[in-house]
Amino acid sequence: MPGPSESVGREVRNATPRLRAGKWRGSRAVRGLGHITGHINHIKERHMGHGGDVITELTTDHQEVEELFTNIEELPAGDRQRKVYADQVTMELVRHSVAEEAYLYPAVRELVPGGDALADKELEDHAEAEQTMKDMENYEADDPQFDMLVGKLMTEIRTHIRDEENNLFPRLREACSPEMLNELGDKVRQAKKTAPTRPHPSAPDKPPANKILAPGAGLVDRMRDALSGRGKES
Ligand SMILES: [Fe+2]
Repeated sequence: MPGPSESVGREVRNATPRLRAGKWRGSRAVRGLGHITGHINHIKERHMGHGGDVITELTTDHQEVEELFTNIEELPAGDRQRKVYADQVTMELVRHSVAEEAYLYPAVRELVPGGDALADKELEDHAEAEQTMKDMENYEADDPQFDMLVGKLMTEIRTHIRDEENNLFPRLREACSPEMLNELGDKVRQAKKTAPTRPHPSAPDKPPANKILAPGAGLVDRMRDALSGRGKES
């Protein structure tokens, strides 16, 4: 009969092949799990409409847009699906911008030292990106102008994401209590919900956004109107 310590030793040898295989494998597995947990939390937040402070909420938006950009980049030039993804990017970005403009930047102006300059710069960047999105609406996926504009939008938005995540968000976190950040998160989620139904990025086979929304003005303007209530008062 083996003694207790010998038995435990054998169990460890038999039952933890991953641990025995080396440290790096273990850490990779842990990172993988972290990714899955993060993804589940992200799904919960988006579908239950609750949870996560404003920084988590907006960073999740950034990740979704980045995923759509990656989808576009992985398709060959001229593929019609690139236009479908571009419409989804536009809807996500307008929703994101309207929510940031309504709640994030006013908070930045009020609470972050030097916040006015930060907010002004972000608003300028939003206006530029929106113009690019409006221009992009005019071209189909097989037009070289579409490729040029999609590339321009990616550069603009990736710069926006870097600016916010590396500069604005850390400064906001320093200036705000966790409760305030949570409250802003709820407001931002609420602002984004006002908009009409959209095809979720995970369901790209749905019809393009511009067929779901009422016809008339361009996609960017229709999204802005729907979110902000602009045009309803007249
Ligand atoms: Fe943002």
